[in-house]
Amino acid sequence: MEYVLGIDLGTSSVKALLVDQEGNVCKEAVQEYTPLHSKTGYSEQDPEDWVSYTLEAMKEISDDKNVDVNNIKGLSFSGQMHGLVLLDEEHHPLRNAILWNDTRTTDQCRQIESVLGDRLISIAKNQALEGFTLPKLLWIKEHEPHLYEKAVAFVLPKDYVRFRLTGILNMEYSDAAGTLLLDVESKAWSKEICQALDISSSICPTLVESGDFVGTLSPQIAEKINLSETTKVFAGGADNACGAIGSGILKQGLSLCSIGTSGVLLSYHEKEDQDLKGELHYFNHAKSNAWYVMGVTLAAGDSLSWFKKTFAPEKSFEALVQEGADTPIGAAGLLFTPYIMGERTPYADSQIRGSFIGMDSSHELKHFTRAVMEGITFSLRDSLEILKTTGNKDISQIVSIGGGAKSEAWLQMQADIFGTPIIKLKSEQGPALGAAMLAAVGCGLFPSLDECAETYVEIEKVYTPVEKNVKIYDELYGIYRTVYCNTKEINDKIASFR
Ligand code: XUL
Repeated sequence: MEYVLGIDLGTSSVKALLVDQEGNVCKEAVQEYTPLHSKTGYSEQDPEDWVSYTLEAMKEISDDKNVDVNNIKGLSFSGQMHGLVLLDEEHHPLRNAILWNDTRTTDQCRQIESVLGDRLISIAKNQALEGFTLPKLLWIKEHEPHLYEKAVAFVLPKDYVRFRLTGILNMEYSDAAGTLLLDVESKAWSKEICQALDISSSICPTLVESGDFVGTLSPQIAEKINLSETTKVFAGGADNACGAIGSGILKQGLSLCSIGTSGVLLSYHEKEDQDLKGELHYFNHAKSNAWYVMGVTLAAGDSLSWFKKTFAPEKSFEALVQEGADTPIGAAGLLFTPYIMGERTPYADSQIRGSFIGMDSSHELKHFTRAVMEGITFSLRDSLEILKTTGNKDISQIVSIGGGAKSEAWLQMQADIFGTPIIKLKSEQGPALGAAMLAAVGCGLFPSLDECAETYVEIEKVYTPVEKNVKIYDELYGIYRTVYCNTKEINDKIASFR
């Protein structure tokens, strides 16, 4: 039997997944870490953490006596998007990486808009958002010029880890799309954007396809983690692109809801056939010459983690979610907006903050938990509504992965709030499985991702919307929609007290 490894470098953990050629998940190793939030709006990580925890997770797999490491033919990566890793001449990081959920770069976003105007959407297909990489580069140029001067290259989180494992530095399209420096249709770094913002194009690394063979493990690394030096390394993809691959989102009409630290609702696209205004993200898929449209809730699972950590640290996630699930629809009149890190879709607003609306003295912890689960899902419905009005009228079902797919009740809640059947997969491994599939195809175990998906991706159950719940949720969603505009001004005023 031959095996591949899929490595998903997330925001708070890295997961290594060993999958055999029949798509069975044989072993999983997870290592957790904590991003650094030194100030409100700041989110950073020491890239060395990613390397050491990734190696730990890989070693946990190779140390297993049941695993014949010589049969692990290849590996690939999935990674949190947009994070800036700035490298010096020796390719050492010049500072901590600035992550996708860091919102310090509002001024740089306005600068990009004023310099590029409509050209930004024409070339990069996305609006300037704090989380993307270009605003972070401009922030460093302005605030830490002594570091910027020393930079010879920048990469994204999983590209850095891949570089450390192979010694080869490059970036693949699905992640490059989230930098705002890529011409997303022609798949080349945009000279126009670089020139307009005075970014030397020499710091943009060589571009490769997600499925490209990059090299083999360096001898020192192979020895350290007890894997063969002949293990092939394939470029990999952005976590959302890999989540889509691992869920079989490989043709027109297929859509995904993923509730991880962030939450995304995305839909596959083979061709740009719509009038993009930047309301949604539009990125290259990790399948060659395909794209996807996506809305992002910055703090989806993160809202629930924050809530648990702050108000119920002694409870397990399962127990907390179960209590929320057992509470009636609408959480007895309590509404939550998950804007605890600012928001991306539909409100590109780094200053907005979350709210609980409608608290009364009868509410208990379980009502708050339910309100958080519903608020996260309402926020993803915001993205769904935009997806439906921008040409994706054929969203007839949605595959659900991540935290929201681990609870029967939350899956049903998604069906009822989205008014759309929700698919639960048999092996719900999302991005790590997508990365393993890129490696499986790269190693020649399958001729294409589509054929690999026929073996690796299987539907377990479909959750159908319950009409009476859909009606209640439609009404509640209408009320949820009004919270943003009614709390925006208050949040702008309160921002100076943070
Ligand atoms: C997508 C985004 C997040 C991260 C999370 O644009 O910023 O979904 O990729 O890992």
